[in-house]
This record gives sequence, C-alpha cells and structure tokens, in this order.
Amino acid sequence: MTTSPLDAADAQERARRVRAMFGRITRRYDLMNRVMTAGQDQAWRRVAAQELHLSHGGLVLDLATGTGDLAFAVRQAYPRAQVVAMDFAEPILREGVRKAQQRGERGVLWAVGDALSLPFPDCTFDGCTSAFLLRNVVNLTLCLQEMRRVVKPGGRVVCMEITHPQSPLFRHLFRVYFYRVVPRIGGLIAGDPSAYSYLPNSLTLFPPAEPLRQKMLAVGYREVYYRLLGFGTMAIHVAIV
Ligand SMILES: C[S@@+](CC[C@H](N)C(=O)[O-])C[C@H]1O[C@@H](n2cnc3c(N)ncnc32)[C@H](O)[C@@H]1O
Repeated sequence: MTTSPLDAADAQERARRVRAMFGRITRRYDLMNRVMTAGQDQAWRRVAAQELHLSHGGLVLDLATGTGDLAFAVRQAYPRAQVVAMDFAEPILREGVRKAQQRGERGVLWAVGDALSLPFPDCTFDGCTSAFLLRNVVNLTLCLQEMRRVVKPGGRVVCMEITHPQSPLFRHLFRVYFYRVVPRIGGLIAGDPSAYSYLPNSLTLFPPAEPLRQKMLAVGYREVYYRLLGFGTMAIHVAIV
C-alpha cells in the first residue's frame, strides 16, 4: 500500500497535535489517571508488567512511557531488569525523569523517540510494554510491527489499552462516563477539556479487543491472548514474538 504525500502530511500533523497535547497535560497527568480510573490504573500496570514473564532480568522497552509509571512497575516486578523508557513528547518524559530521581530509580534509561520508527536494531529487547499508546498512533500496524521487530524471538510484547466493554449494560455506562464525565473532570483537574475530549474520541475508531488480537496475529506474532480488567474497560494484550 502506498501513502500519498497528502496522507503523510495529515498523519504528521495528527502526530504533532498528539505530541503537543501530552506535553500540555504533563503537570496533572498522573492525578487525572488516578481520578479517572478510581485509583485502579497502577494495579493494571502491575498486571501488565507480570505478563512479561521474564525469568531473569533482561532489557525491556517501555514505549510511550509518559511519566514512566509502567517502566517503574516493570522494575518493581523484575528488579534485575533494565528498562529503556521512550516517548516522543519531551515534557512528559522529563516528568518521568524527575520521578525517577525522586524515587532513587537508576534502572530506567530515558529516551526521546517515535514508536513508529524505533531507533534500535532488530531483536534488541527481551520484552516490550506500552500503556495507552495504541489508540494514539497514526499507523497501528506499523507500531505493532516495530514492537515485534525489536523484541527477540520468544519475548513478549504487552500492550495495555482502554477497550470497548462487551456487556451492553457496561458499554452504555462506560459511554456516558467516558464521553460525558471524563471531559468535564479533565477541564476541572487538568484545565484542558479538549485533551480529555480527545481521549474518548480516540477510542471510537479503535478496534475492540478480539479484532485487535487478530490484527496482532496478522502482523506475525506467534501467539496472542488478552485479559480484560476494570469491568471489561481495560485490555492487556500479550503477543509472543
Ligand atoms: C496516555 S499517555 C500514556 C503514558 C504512560 N504509558 C502511562 O501508562 O500513563 C500516551 C503517551 O504516548 C505517547 N505517544 C503517542 N504517540 C507516540 C509515538 N508515536 N511515539 C512515542 N510516544 C508516543 C504520548 O506522548 C504520551 O506520553
């Protein structure tokens, strides 16, 4: 499939807007996560980290690390692992560096980079994680391919992302909460209702959990399964390279 110059320019502009938005909401980002998920997001990151199934330390890439919470969860689960924490928005990454210094965390290396063009050779990492990345990328297939490319055969790619609940009742409640309540909380806490209107909108066209699993298989992962958490609103996909 070829990409026209107009499509490419549009994708670049969308990526630029996403990068600028995460730069803008850095200060209240962690607090918003805790409030929106009723304090559950850190527990979900711990579950995602466990899904790496590292038997020893090893080198892990946490993509779109933001303020670093999943990178820290990986280090807690595997104290002998080294984590490369990468994001394309520098202001939010700097908040991760600040938190690492505050915690005395020395096992995380911080890097600026794009998930769609990873600056690493093939088979560099023992595992790769991401939380809340996939909804944001302008090319989902390319992102899944890049994560697969940089992980060694047998390693795991673990992606945690908001998903469409399967039960009709929860789907309805979730829609009201996510599309109506979250932008208001975002306005009050983060002072940026537009960023938190973007959040539900980014889910609208995002594939539900099973189609996402199929997409991952189509990209060439050997095996893919997922776990649903948070009353079916959160999916953790685990793909074996
Ligand atoms: C919702 S935040 C998630 C942060 C963190 N993973 C967490 O668990 O809270 C999404 C992050 O993805 C980053 N991001 C989006 N697209 C990216 C890309 N193409 N390459 C690298 N980072 C990207 C944003 O800058 C932002 O920090």
